[in-house]
Amino acid sequence: MNNIDWKNLPFGYFKTDYNVRCYFRNNEWGELEISSSEYVNIHMAATALHYGQSAFEGLKAFRGKDGKIRIFRLEENAKRMQNSAYGIMMADVPTELFREAVLTAVKLNEKFIPPYGEGASLYIRPVLFGSGAQVGVKPANEYLLIVFVGPVGPYFKEGFNPVSIQIVRDFDRAAPLGTGCYKVGGNYAASLRAGERAHHEGFASVLFLDAKEKKYIDEAGPANFFGIKGNKYITPESKSILPSITNMSLRQLAEDIGLTVEKRQVSVDELGEFEEVGACGTAAVISPIKRILDRDTNKEFLYCKDGKAGPVSTKLYNMLRAIQEGEIEDKYNWNTIVE
Ligand code: PLP
Ligand code: COI
Repeated sequence: MNNIDWKNLPFGYFKTDYNVRCYFRNNEWGELEISSSEYVNIHMAATALHYGQSAFEGLKAFRGKDGKIRIFRLEENAKRMQNSAYGIMMADVPTELFREAVLTAVKLNEKFIPPYGEGASLYIRPVLFGSGAQVGVKPANEYLLIVFVGPVGPYFKEGFNPVSIQIVRDFDRAAPLGTGCYKVGGNYAASLRAGERAHHEGFASVLFLDAKEKKYIDEAGPANFFGIKGNKYITPESKSILPSITNMSLRQLAEDIGLTVEKRQVSVDELGEFEEVGACGTAAVISPIKRILDRDTNKEFLYCKDGKAGPVSTKLYNMLRAIQEGEIEDKYNWNTIVE
């Protein structure tokens, strides 16, 4: 094995040897089970299938120059899964269970962790869903947590090369008091039609606006949005966006290099004032944006005029990658080293 073409990996499903599972039944979590099947046997009336009781996480493991394996901000992903479980009334996954499931899945599939320097990583996908039957609209009384992993390359095929995105007003991914702040399957279902249309029209992603006023920037598809203006790192505050752990990390790194961080509403009109803009997330890392087209007004905002990512985005990207791959000090203890 290991004739994997690490450098050209897409972001997608990759079959590995094992996944890890745990059932919540009779009000308690059972033992972790190791499986080599890619399938689950599920009740046809499972709430995940009918009523969308399903949430997932996405985190990454990296092989460092020193050969060590690091998992980035595992506790934050555990917390967010707890939040998602709360949001759609699923069983809470204790941080210890989350950690053990993730570490077990990573260790069992160690040979799939891309070597250092290939621009790839091991994507870890925990998923939690209602596996118990209901026909009335009620939460299930049985849940299944599965953690599977797979080596991935960049989410947007452009990698760290700038992408074009599209502002839309005829679709919302989430409502202000809906589930946008949770990482639940329904949000992604709601984003599919707009996302696929954007791809057909030549854009890497949609830029969703706030559902109520259609005035402020929400999210860039499966990633948060940020902009650089002078000495400021600016990112939207909104009830309907997913609190990105990458964005949280970039805000800290931005402060560390002397930028002022602003988390506030960002109106579409402000787009013309940014020197750099980007999308950030575990899968996207930082995707610099070169062009934003407003699909309704045809107004265009252009960045990266020399074809390359801007200096601040580049610096933040390099810092983040260097922490994840163990090249610079992890002064906030973001990494879990897999022993
Ligand atoms: N926003 C959405 C809708 C996402 O799916 C993701 C991906 O996880 C993000 C933002 C970025 O979050 P994170 O940086 O925690 O991966
Ligand atoms: C992530 O960045 O982990 C995501 O979940 C994005 C997408 C693949 C849903």
